[in-house]
Amino acid sequence: MCGIIGYIGEKNAAGIIYNGLKRLEYRGYDSAGIATLDEKKGIQVKKDIGRVEDINRKLDFLSMDGTVGIGHTRWATHGWVTKENAHPHVSNNKKIYVIHNGIVENYQGIKSMLQGNGFNFYSETDTETIPNLIEFEMRKGKDFEQATKDAVKQLDGYYAILAMHEGERKIVAARNGSPLVVGLGKNENFIASDIPAFLEHTKTVMYVHDKDFIVLNGNYEVKFYSLQEGREVSRPIHSVDWSIEQAQKGDFDHFMMKEISEQVETVQKAANQDESTLFAVANAIKDAKGVFFVACGSSYHACLSASYIFSKIAKMHINVILASEFSNYEDYLTPQTLVIAVSQSGETIDVLDAVRAAKRKNAEIISIVNVVGSSLHRSSDHALMLNTGPEVCVLSTKTYTAQLAVLALLAHTVAGRYEEGKARLKYLWNIIYNLTSASTRDHIRRLADKLKDKEHIFTIGRGLQYPTALEAALKIKEVSYIHAEGFSGGELKHGTIALIEEGTPCIVFSSKETEMEIISNAMEIKARGGYIIGVNSENNEIFDFFIKTPDVGILNPITQIIPIQILSYQLAVLRGFDPDKPRNLAKSVTVK
Ligand code: G6P
Repeated sequence: MCGIIGYIGEKNAAGIIYNGLKRLEYRGYDSAGIATLDEKKGIQVKKDIGRVEDINRKLDFLSMDGTVGIGHTRWATHGWVTKENAHPHVSNNKKIYVIHNGIVENYQGIKSMLQGNGFNFYSETDTETIPNLIEFEMRKGKDFEQATKDAVKQLDGYYAILAMHEGERKIVAARNGSPLVVGLGKNENFIASDIPAFLEHTKTVMYVHDKDFIVLNGNYEVKFYSLQEGREVSRPIHSVDWSIEQAQKGDFDHFMMKEISEQVETVQKAANQDESTLFAVANAIKDAKGVFFVACGSSYHACLSASYIFSKIAKMHINVILASEFSNYEDYLTPQTLVIAVSQSGETIDVLDAVRAAKRKNAEIISIVNVVGSSLHRSSDHALMLNTGPEVCVLSTKTYTAQLAVLALLAHTVAGRYEEGKARLKYLWNIIYNLTSASTRDHIRRLADKLKDKEHIFTIGRGLQYPTALEAALKIKEVSYIHAEGFSGGELKHGTIALIEEGTPCIVFSSKETEMEIISNAMEIKARGGYIIGVNSENNEIFDFFIKTPDVGILNPITQIIPIQILSYQLAVLRGFDPDKPRNLAKSVTVK
């Protein structure tokens, strides 16, 4: 995780980097730091623990001089959250400054070697080995660029690195596995973990490939070298169509609520797929011998839902595997296997590792992804895009329903019912509009008031509503910190029902298809004192609180999660937590 950004141009670097870091905070927000290079004052550094805005109030990043700089927002991996562990890290000679996203797996060996050569270490991080290794290489007589290239070649693991050297107006960078993208401006260039970091300045980008080494020099040139091929390489220039408004909160207090509201449009945009790609993917599914959905977190829940949709609509079985468990299935892969990797960011390391494993067996790779140019996007044979624009809140909301929309459309296409699938998704517009309206939000706010001091919340559903129950529990717990667990309606009585006591809330997702059985399960809970919240098209006398969601059959997973996204948001706000940046979480998990 961690967010990194570098700027070289004619403007004040600190201001641009500070704003960029605020947009990258979804990648980590336990500490932050900026280093700028000023021709007269040399390199200045400010860093501390806390959120970027709080650190700025304390240290005043904006007063830093210089038109070249690098900045970092951290999600701790090696070493606790302390000022010493915050980036940038500096070499012993105080001339080389480095920020880093990823993990240097062989840092202990490098550290001992450097210590043996007289280097001292002042942090617990793996990152601190990098500026010192560069200094070590420079002591052999190499210039900064060559020394950094040679240092980077010695690193094992995944990384995106930016480095600056005292007295040189340039930024050098390298990538292996962690995201990095260059932004091209007029007399200024940017390099960052993600496009929103510099989107207000440029929409012209170059994606950095693994084992690329990049130099952003003082003449505003950007040079790419392949560390593997040992020569300069060219990378294509792309134009992105994300708008800066999409990356700003507008009239909303938080991105989470803004992004929940955007679902009126984003589900429609997701259903608007390039037809030739969609049909090519559908044919690949039909031709494959064994299809796997691979994903993590909310994306995994979308896949689980989709496996029910595929079974019902396309009469096909799809294996759904958590990306972090995928290696256990590697032995079953053949060149006829099709792996469909689903990821908002396209940078989740477990998903990328699963794809690498599948590629080793020559399996075909399809990605369903939001971030254009992401590692997953670039490493797949075909890609279906979510088209939601940037999702800034750490929690997945609009991209979850967009994934469901794309997967449902795909199931219809495989079944030869593309037009019908598209029409059904189009019909959701009005329903989602009502589900995100002010009156629904007020209604759910009354529920949030009742639940805000509860210790546990259970969620249950059957069939298509089972993955929704899992996703609902994840949403509630990750943002409100109330313990929540989701179950298949039939499973609660095999143990967890022991936890139900007077007033324990249980959210029951129901539909015409599952109503009979799930209501029996709800009764079992109610008989033990449970407080039943029904999410259904019709009220039922056993519901203590009712949330109406019109029955849209196979597409219920898209609509029924929305009230619980709103509930989760309101619980977080009522309990005094920031819904956009829940503790310990990061949006894009780029470490194992
Ligand atoms: C993180 C996020 C989740 C997300 C998961 C998978 O844990 O906090 O919201 O579902 O990663 O992310 P991906 O980008 O692969 O969909």
